[in-house]
Amino acid sequence: MSDPLVSTGQAASTLFEIPAHTELPLFTPDWRVLEENRVVGFNGRHISARPFSLLRSQLIKRMAARDYRIVGITSPAPGAGKSFLSANLAATLSRLPNHSVHVFDLDVRRASIAESFGLTGETGLEKFLAGDIDDLRKVGRHVEGTNLALYPCFLNDLDTVQLLASERFAAFVASLRTLGEGHIVVFDMPPVFANDDAMVIAGQSDCYLMVIEQGRNSRKQVEDAIRLLEPADCIGSVLNRYDGGVGDPYGYSYGSYGKYSDYFSKAE
Ligand SMILES: Nc1ncnc2c1ncn2[C@@H]1O[C@H](COP(=O)(O)OP(=O)(O)OP(=O)(O)O)[C@@H](O)[C@H]1O
Ligand SMILES: [Mg+2]
Repeated sequence: MSDPLVSTGQAASTLFEIPAHTELPLFTPDWRVLEENRVVGFNGRHISARPFSLLRSQLIKRMAARDYRIVGITSPAPGAGKSFLSANLAATLSRLPNHSVHVFDLDVRRASIAESFGLTGETGLEKFLAGDIDDLRKVGRHVEGTNLALYPCFLNDLDTVQLLASERFAAFVASLRTLGEGHIVVFDMPPVFANDDAMVIAGQSDCYLMVIEQGRNSRKQVEDAIRLLEPADCIGSVLNRYDGGVGDPYGYSYGSYGKYSDYFSKAE
């Protein structure tokens, strides 16, 4: 079997079933809540959705070239815009025909996907990760009219280092890898410098995107963050809150999309 996790001792029986969108309860977002939370990616004509569409094209191309399914979204320090990007990228990706997008909130302690999309409930991904439930149908929601499945976390006080370093988490990711072509999995991750969580998650993901906050992240911070995540594959970097004249109100620089070294060589 080509899956390294399965071949290194994860018995196939420990794999979890990843539900199809149609098996999940339907969720109809309130479009005003989405707008308030700046989730604009569902609307291709929204001026602020344009950078996400461009990012989508590049990401899909790069992931397809490497036969990747799972991309994590992280940043060196908190508050850089990871969840904002995860939500909008997911919404943008879900507009593509022939694609299925699965978004998992893996910033378990400071989860925000539920709030961004206006989701409420009690059974979140934290219960699945903690082993309280095995059925992901109890957690996921299918966003009506899209190819998007959301797996939010709800308020909890769990020790995430133990949760994410567990065999259960490895088996969960191995299960996601069994998804076929056309499936894209997005992990909304914690920041690298917060604790070990980002390292563990990046180690299991196929690749990650590094969100860099204009004016707040130094070159050294970004280099240190990427070094800490090695050997995980940094598939690109995104400069957020960019005020270099891109012309979109949310200040997303897709011009810097690429390896972080490209970004810095252009920025200096
Ligand atoms: N480019 C942007 N334009 C406007 N608002 C933004 C932008 N990027 C992020 N925000 C807003 O800034 C706040 C922080 O962003 P977000 O929650 O995505 O950061 P984060 O990196 O996920 O933070 P944390 O490390 O706490 O998880 C949110 O209210 C988000 O909507
Ligand atoms: Mg976040």
